Amino acid sequence: MRVLVAGATGVIGRRLVPLLKEAGHEPVALTRNPGAVRERLGVETVEADALVREDVLKGVRDAAPDAVVNLLTAIPAKLDVSRLAEEFVLTNRLRTQGTRNLLDAAPGARHIAESVAFVYQPGDGLADEDAPTWYDGTPDQFVTTLEAALDLERQLTEAGGLALRFGHLYGPGSGYAADGATTAAIRAGQFPLIGGGNGYFSFIHSADAAAAVVAGLDRDVSGVLNIADDHPTQAREWIPEVARMLGALEPPVVSEEQALPVAGEWGVAFLNRLRGVDNARARASLDWRPRYASWRDGFEVELSKDE
Ligand SMILES: NC(=O)c1ccc[n+]([C@@H]2O[C@H](COP(=O)([O-])OP(=O)(O)OC[C@H]3O[C@@H](n4cnc5c(N)ncnc54)[C@H](OP(=O)(O)O)[C@@H]3O)[C@@H](O)[C@H]2O)c1
Repeated sequence: MRVLVAGATGVIGRRLVPLLKEAGHEPVALTRNPGAVRERLGVETVEADALVREDVLKGVRDAAPDAVVNLLTAIPAKLDVSRLAEEFVLTNRLRTQGTRNLLDAAPGARHIAESVAFVYQPGDGLADEDAPTWYDGTPDQFVTTLEAALDLERQLTEAGGLALRFGHLYGPGSGYAADGATTAAIRAGQFPLIGGGNGYFSFIHSADAAAAVVAGLDRDVSGVLNIADDHPTQAREWIPEVARMLGALEPPVVSEEQALPVAGEWGVAFLNRLRGVDNARARASLDWRPRYASWRDGFEVELSKDE
């Protein structure tokens, strides 16, 4: 298949391109920097800004892909969660307008796009894809990000495509990499455990995320699927564990009230209310399973890298 990848140089994209080649596909990267991408990834390119509709329509039509993978984001490497709404303005536009442009540019192609697994209404147990999305008590700073992710999912579903709800992404280039911003904060004792740390994190290694995309290319599956590892873990478990892996001091503990002025409502909710997700449907319908079944194994590997 000729597979157009928008976001080929991102955390998932850079793992996806070699996997596509290995699987006998022909990747084509949509990028604003074609020279650099050709040099870095050794792929054919389409030069376009995903938000400039005419350029996307022309470039993608000329490339004539059989499939389009939308991994477009513009998330700052060091995210200020207290200002999430501002930090996500561009990512939200990429998820709404960027998605519209890609769908319209290749109406006959197979479409797969990146969504997130943080969309669920807090509740008990793991969320499968039928669980309600966040409708009650949604932190203000998260509202526009949630709406954009759901808009992307709606567009994909209406077009018969597949939206993958990725869990917390780790791996090279991510905030959780050996040289990532979250890792640096934990190492420096500046990533506190807020409140009880009761929120569940469903992690996913970027290589496993990329493998799920490849698995979805030639399967007749549409709608949304959770893509996360088998062991959702509470913040109160993984933060101290990662600190131990790094040889750092125990993370500081602060109350929700103390954290609110710094982390904001979303930062507090992130560590205390997020619901873990069930990956059973993706396993069954994509015949996919995470190579790193537990975040512990993946983090051990990633954090031992000398980056
Ligand atoms: N589920 C999760 O937890 C999750 C999901 C995604 C990202 N993240 C985190 O967010 C941070 C950034 O990750 P990232 O993968 O987004 O990295 P990134 O290196 O910022 O990649 C963004 C990709 O989107 C493309 N892009 C952005 N704006 C574009 C535009 N207007 N037109 C065309 N292409 C555009 C870029 O392409 P060009 O520059 O080549 O044009 C690039 O390939 C990391 O820490 C990552 O772990 C987390």
